Amino acid sequence: MNILLTGGAGFIGSHTAAALLAAGYRVILADNFSNSDPAVVRQLGKLTGQHVRCYAVDVADRAAAGRIFEENHIDAVLHFAGHKAVGESVRQPLRYYRNNLDSTLTLLELMAQYDCRRMIFSSSAAVYGAGNPAPLTEQMPAGGCANPYGRTKFFIEEILRDAAAANPELSVVLLRYFNPIGAHASGLIGELPNGEPNNLMPYITQTAAGIRPRLRVYGGDYPTPDGTCIRDYIHISDLAEGHAAALRYAFDHTGTEVFNLGTGRGVSVLEVIRAFERATGIRIPYEITGRRPGDVPVCYASVDKAARVLGWQAKKSLEDMCRDAWRWQQRYGKNQNMQ
Ligand code: WQD
Repeated sequence: MNILLTGGAGFIGSHTAAALLAAGYRVILADNFSNSDPAVVRQLGKLTGQHVRCYAVDVADRAAAGRIFEENHIDAVLHFAGHKAVGESVRQPLRYYRNNLDSTLTLLELMAQYDCRRMIFSSSAAVYGAGNPAPLTEQMPAGGCANPYGRTKFFIEEILRDAAAANPELSVVLLRYFNPIGAHASGLIGELPNGEPNNLMPYITQTAAGIRPRLRVYGGDYPTPDGTCIRDYIHISDLAEGHAAALRYAFDHTGTEVFNLGTGRGVSVLEVIRAFERATGIRIPYEITGRRPGDVPVCYASVDKAARVLGWQAKKSLEDMCRDAWRWQQRYGKNQNMQ
């Protein structure tokens, strides 16, 4: 079976490609490399011992993306491609809407044209409005997002629901990710943040490597046990396996279904720092500063539905996530590329 992964060279796309190749699927990547490194494709080849096909195209470009469908019978699309920086989305909302929505619409049109009936979409916990208490369940109201990035994910979910409602043969799976971190245990693929990281784990690993002098912990006065924010960190390889489970589900069902992909466990920023120190033996210098605008105090998933319906649950510990993130940082993180 041929599975198209848009944004397939990115952090989540590349780890999912590794999981699907290991499960015996034929994987085709599409990536415009706007925020990823072409060397990832080679690394995937090394990791799996297979030639990985990759189209260097922007999937919003209908003619270019059409060639992928023309040259391959695509059985399912896993749509990872998209801009994903929260702060940037506040400054450049139209760029986010244009890019993230356009690529999805183009893919849906091509899927209709070439009779491809399965779409797995990279959504986000960001679609849950701030008003919902943790653990977040899939039944809670979505929308009311804190930023344009989250709203692109919410709008795309709605577009995909409409598309599935209009075509009874279509299968749409919306995967709402919590906080994916870590790297493949092989150390061959991982996250390549552009410039100064926004997210916690790459900031920690760059601080451990001496690239950043200290970590700023955003807020120590939240209504949580240690005063720092609580999130649901999930190992990127567990998240990748969640996609394999969602893909199996999509082959057996039609309509739209939504699943949280998290561990169901809330962990504070200080707990992440301590876990990293335990896992690596490296002390992380940090200071507690003011809150970061837009952060909610507590966000973690209910994972019951994914366990019940997909038969999937996260297995790796926070220490595994820290150890694998650090291995990756040491190997490729110094200059933030894989050349
Ligand atoms: C985690 C915690 C920070 C950096 C965001 C997006 C989400 C998804 C993942 C996409 C928070 C704290 C962080 C730092 C810190 N997007 N922190 N110092 O905000 O939960 O989720 O990234 O790709 O849609 O909203 O993740 O890793 O930025 O922050 O104290 O230098 O770490 O305040 O509590 P977040 P994060």
